[in-house]
Amino acid sequence: MVIRSPEPADEPAIARFFTALVAGGESRSFHPHPFTPREARHLARGRCPTGRPTEDIYRFGFARGEAVAYGMLRGWDEGFAEPSLGIAVHPDFRGQGLAGQMIRQLHDLARLRGAKVVRLKVYRDNTAAVGLYQKLGYVLTEHDEAQWMGRFSLTAGTAPDAPTFSPQQAA
Ligand SMILES: CC(C)(COP(=O)(O)OP(=O)(O)OC[C@H]1O[C@@H](n2cnc3c(N)ncnc32)[C@H](O)[C@@H]1OP(=O)(O)O)[C@@H](O)C(=O)NCCC(=O)NCCS
Repeated sequence: MVIRSPEPADEPAIARFFTALVAGGESRSFHPHPFTPREARHLARGRCPTGRPTEDIYRFGFARGEAVAYGMLRGWDEGFAEPSLGIAVHPDFRGQGLAGQMIRQLHDLARLRGAKVVRLKVYRDNTAAVGLYQKLGYVLTEHDEAQWMGRFSLTAGTAPDAPTFSPQQAA
């Protein structure tokens, strides 16, 4: 999988990916924006899904010309210090580590922007996503009845509120 910014020629592949997400029913547990051809067109032109110019980060993973993974970091447009991460993998390409690859790339991009923490919200009954975030080291805390809030420290690769490891301690 090659992860990169979307380009205008990717519009049909992104629209097909969105159609697959909706058909798979995932838009119920993952709904950062509608998944219609309109959002595919805007994203393929380097804009945010609503069509505005954006500082937020949208990336797609491509394999053999098809969009197979979608990742985003949002919040900079609204002035937040902690970007929110979103991720979806094409239903036919799950269980191969693609979400992990995309998230590690998003973490690197957030670090380069100077973020210290990435956050997200996840439905408690979204077993795959909860398992994924726990495996990667996200700390999950109560958000509301339906959702957990997840936070990941970018500074040491450790939990945001855990004691930080210092290289001097190891010396
Ligand atoms: C959640 C999602 C992104 C995972 O994508 P994926 O590419 O299948 O995930 P990966 O293959 O990278 O899995 C990494 C880890 O996630 C966890 N995981 C993935 N699928 C899982 C499942 N069905 N049940 C439990 N844990 C699961 C495991 O810990 C896995 O590690 P392992 O393979 O060593 O056991 C994918 O299921 C998806 O797109 N779901 C719909 C959209 C969504 O819900 N997004 C999250 C919104 S908060």
